[in-house]
Amino acid sequence: MDAQRKVALVTGITGQDGSYLAEFLLAKGYDVHGIIRRASTFNTRRLDHIYRDPHNGDEVHLFLHYGDIGSSGNLAEIIRQVQPDEIYHLAAQSHVRVSFDLPDYTGDVTGLSTVRILEAIRHAGVKTRFYQASSSEMFGAAPPPQNERTPFQPQSPYAAAKLYAYWVTRNYREAYGIYACNGILFNHESPRRGETFVTRKITRAVAGILAGRQKHLYLGNLNARRDWGYAPEYVEAMWLMLQQDQPDDYVIGTGEAHSVREFLDEAFGYVGLDWNDYVRIDQRYYRPTEVDYLLADARKARNQLGWIPRLGFRELVRIMVDADMELVGLDSPGEGRQILSKQFDWHRWQDQSISMEQRT
Ligand code: NAP
Ligand code: GDD
Repeated sequence: MDAQRKVALVTGITGQDGSYLAEFLLAKGYDVHGIIRRASTFNTRRLDHIYRDPHNGDEVHLFLHYGDIGSSGNLAEIIRQVQPDEIYHLAAQSHVRVSFDLPDYTGDVTGLSTVRILEAIRHAGVKTRFYQASSSEMFGAAPPPQNERTPFQPQSPYAAAKLYAYWVTRNYREAYGIYACNGILFNHESPRRGETFVTRKITRAVAGILAGRQKHLYLGNLNARRDWGYAPEYVEAMWLMLQQDQPDDYVIGTGEAHSVREFLDEAFGYVGLDWNDYVRIDQRYYRPTEVDYLLADARKARNQLGWIPRLGFRELVRIMVDADMELVGLDSPGEGRQILSKQFDWHRWQDQSISMEQRT
């Protein structure tokens, strides 16, 4: 291994954010180690395009280790072996609705896993920076807009678990001097979004309906409002947090919120369909307690990290619909593809000195 390369360890590397973060860090010249859990089917689909096989004589900078954040077991050993400069803890049971069905499991995996990793860092004596994937869901019933000073009012077992992880991250920063940050990220989406989150469920349904594979789309509460951003931009914010002189906590979001209904308008409207003809309400998708309105006030991130989101709601929807149409073998309208090629230059990630002007 090249001693000059920085080393990152990513939990949840097989997820939406983990896969984008791995790409981002590789482009920046890191060696990236990821923790994956053993499954009976391949769970590395989102990493296939960046995986290199050492048996082919390829230069390898992405390394995968089996582990489970539900147990301390080998976490400390992996951290000791890898000696990371930065740890990004993204793994979680991340579905809010599911957390009502699996509350104690979610508490364990989404909440306690953070203290498992922080303890492993402490005991291994590794000098590493730590990123905790905190969530806007922690704001819950707090009125919008929400920022770093907004009092939390969690509305789900998921949010309560994330709140524990948030506070224990702050506690280890203060008690043991660990460089530990909370990124309080608002919803962020992409063509790699898990299929059961509402945005992806909708864009897949648009493609499925056009392909004649699906007749209806069953949803729950259409009135909830979310601040939806584009996931690849959010992993850059994670990295920026760990490059500062002092560790701190930051809200990350676009500052624009839309309802599920508006997402439907935009996604179906883009391909000339009226969602009212296809959407059916199913009570099963309602939550015992809902979070009505999340809207980020991300001025701190803008001022201190220089982080500014570039893609808006309309663009995000087009990118996702195009991708899902192409996945089922349909020609897409292509506006999303165009936006990506014009506005979102992945190669800028290789340039560490992006100015504020270039971002806007
Ligand atoms: P995701 O797509 O659901 O990915 C979750 C990752 O965690 C997957 O890699 C999953 O592995 C892994 N994982 C789950 N349980 C595990 C276990 N017991 N041991 C090891 N790995 C485990 O989530 P995401 O959207 O990328 O989000 C990343 C993180 O940010 C999560 O902590 C989420 O709660 C948080 N967050 C997300 C958003 C958002 O809008 N996306 C906003 C705020 C915060 P498998 O692939 O094997 O399932
Ligand atoms: N998933 C889902 N499925 N949500 C639906 C549906 C449906 O059929 N119908 C309506 N909704 C509503 C939900 O009730 C919620 O108000 C909103 O759509 C968004 O739901 P999700 O896409 O599941 O996301 P979330 O906001 O609950 O949670 C996501 O964002 C959090 C950050 O605020 C997840 O990524 C969390 O991990 C993340 O922390």
